[in-house]
Amino acid sequence: MEIDHKAFLDSLGGAEGVKRLDDEARADALESHMMSELNSAIAAKKSGEAQPPKKYPTVAEVEAQIETRPYRAGVGFLMVPRTGGNVKRLAPMPANPTLADFFKLRFADTANHVLQSANLAKKNGMSEEIVLACLLHDVVQEIMRTDHGWWGAQLFEPYVSEKVTFAIRYHQALRYYADPSVGYEYPDLYRELFGADYVPPPYIEATYQMVRKHKWYMEPRMVAVNDLYAFDPNVVVTIEPFLDIIGRHFKQPKEGLGNDGSPVAHMWRTISRPDQPL
Ligand SMILES: [Fe+2]
Ligand SMILES: [Fe+2]
Repeated sequence: MEIDHKAFLDSLGGAEGVKRLDDEARADALESHMMSELNSAIAAKKSGEAQPPKKYPTVAEVEAQIETRPYRAGVGFLMVPRTGGNVKRLAPMPANPTLADFFKLRFADTANHVLQSANLAKKNGMSEEIVLACLLHDVVQEIMRTDHGWWGAQLFEPYVSEKVTFAIRYHQALRYYADPSVGYEYPDLYRELFGADYVPPPYIEATYQMVRKHKWYMEPRMVAVNDLYAFDPNVVVTIEPFLDIIGRHFKQPKEGLGNDGSPVAHMWRTISRPDQPL
């Protein structure tokens, strides 16, 4: 499906919709100056002016932004607020925290986006495993954004099926490659974030080639498909409708995430206690 800029704006509900964007999308947009371009596009639209053709930065221009920021782009949302200012004191976690507790108390910047994505996947009749993968696909970005597909898969590997892990790990690489057979096109957001002339590094290309031939190709592809359109400001989704799917497909440790001695328990503790200096 062709995503034109105007239709994208309309789908956000205009200026008000842009304000209500989930934090992940807003942070990405701010980083790449997308917001100002959206606002001027809205203003141009309101005044009836023809909109100029979209101009995306080059890779060199994106690289030039690095030294304008007090943080590196890969750092997680929980660690550095993208809106500037100081961090806020976090609510304490329960003694034996569940996945739902993390959604409610720690995934403040990613929850809206992944809940909308899972909601869309459910509406589109996806399997419960794909719905779960959509629900979990980006939450690791609370602590780390670079290679978030791999980080995310690792965070969930002890608790979900191999298929769900596969979908989470590889959605990241598939996002760079169109698949017209399922209506997936290269996202305009990536032209903003990475530069119009960006070419994914060899490990992403090699991963794509491997996954493309894999019998589970459609699992991460469906995460990418339901990811792309998961920015509807008019939809407020809570974790409650997904508790059944979590109950059936997520092995919640009785000691609580972070207390279970799994190989990734420290990652959950880091999310629970991001203010620990060591
Ligand atoms: Fe992602
Ligand atoms: Fe996403």
